[in-house]
Amino acid sequence: MPERGKPDSGSNPRMLRPRMPTSELRRGSGELRSASRPLEKPILVLDGLRTTFDTDDGLLKAVDGVSYTLRRGMTLGLVGESGCGKSVTNLSIMRLVPSPPGRIVGGQILFHGEDLLKKTEDEMRAIRGRQISMIFQDPMTSLNPYLRVSRQITEVLELHLGLGRTAARARALELLELCGIPDAAARLDDYPHQFSGGMRQRVMIAMALACRPEVLLADEPTTALDVTIQAQILDLIKKMQSEMGTAVILVTHDLGVVAGMADEVAVMYAGRIVEHASARDLFKSPQHPYTQALLNSVPRLDQKGRLKPVEGQPPDMARLGPECAFRPRCEHADERCAVYPPVFETRHATAAKPGGRETAAAQPHRVACWRADVRPGDARAPGAAAPAAAMEPK
Ligand SMILES: Nc1ncnc2c1ncn2[C@@H]1O[C@H](COP(=O)(O)OP(=O)(O)O)[C@@H](O)[C@H]1O
Ligand code: SF4
Ligand SMILES: [Mg+2]
Repeated sequence: MPERGKPDSGSNPRMLRPRMPTSELRRGSGELRSASRPLEKPILVLDGLRTTFDTDDGLLKAVDGVSYTLRRGMTLGLVGESGCGKSVTNLSIMRLVPSPPGRIVGGQILFHGEDLLKKTEDEMRAIRGRQISMIFQDPMTSLNPYLRVSRQITEVLELHLGLGRTAARARALELLELCGIPDAAARLDDYPHQFSGGMRQRVMIAMALACRPEVLLADEPTTALDVTIQAQILDLIKKMQSEMGTAVILVTHDLGVVAGMADEVAVMYAGRIVEHASARDLFKSPQHPYTQALLNSVPRLDQKGRLKPVEGQPPDMARLGPECAFRPRCEHADERCAVYPPVFETRHATAAKPGGRETAAAQPHRVACWRADVRPGDARAPGAAAPAAAMEPK
């Protein structure tokens, strides 16, 4: 049993201090934006999503019970090491998991209350690109090598927004310029292979933003780009959010970007969300040893010396046992960790503002770790009532 209400070594305030500039953190926390903003209706709700791959080594549980709620205008940062299931979660939402070997085997993906897993392929085609767009890690995934860039963007605009040819072409040019393509007018009729990798990324971002989607799944959107263009693209996404209320899932390795953009952060490990909180709470008091290790591995302005990488290797996803998946790398592990922990609500969530209207800052701080600093009286303590469903694999 965890010692409820008693901070453990994982709550050491020294460890909890984030390494990001505090100005960034304050922005990232959504402190000013969220605290006074009433919660919007959910647009996208993932409920216990499970996606597997048949591999030579057996069944690989790439996404194992992922749940979250995305509301209009909000940004959820999804972070975690390579291979933990971030992209497969996004591909599942788009229903683009390659099958075989992939299969969505459980859960629901509710978009405006309707389960995308029950839609026909034709219905999904109408949703993709128009209402839910994805910026892929690999630009060639979404660009057709045989079509000129102009045609690829105008096609989307004509099909989904009903623009005429001339208007679509003008808008395509505007989008390429917004995404930082130099001499865009001259490049508009080039083919994808005539662009460099970074430029292709921008073309793809222009395509993803073309229809002003309600949900944007941005999977490492700026990893290949230099910092100036990265800032430009992130600004573009923010602008679209404030104008259109676009909800964004932002997958990134860059915790600085998360701090600057996200209202909430979900940390994934081995196919599951192991910690989920408002960005402010997560950076201020990370609870899961993996989150703490991630934060310790990024540079901090006020600290010199070497960074501490997350020790050890990510687990083999096809050979996960019943134990906590982080156990082999965790310096806090004890005998309880032989069983995968339930989800605890910690005492570190920022309280809701009085007045009855919930705010984003009232997002519960949840963590799947036996050593979590559990909120006093939390019914989700082990041995008590059923654990919280939010991160619990089904
Ligand atoms: N087409 C595939 N076939 C088999 N395994 C896959 C396939 N795509 C992804 N996976 C596996 O699913 C897991 C999650 O992958 P992914 O979501 O791409 O990770 P991330 O985006 O977090 O880096 C990984 O173990 C990966 O090897
Ligand atoms: S539950 Fe997992 S993360 Fe938490 S202390 Fe045990 S091994 Fe470490
Ligand atoms: Mg990925």
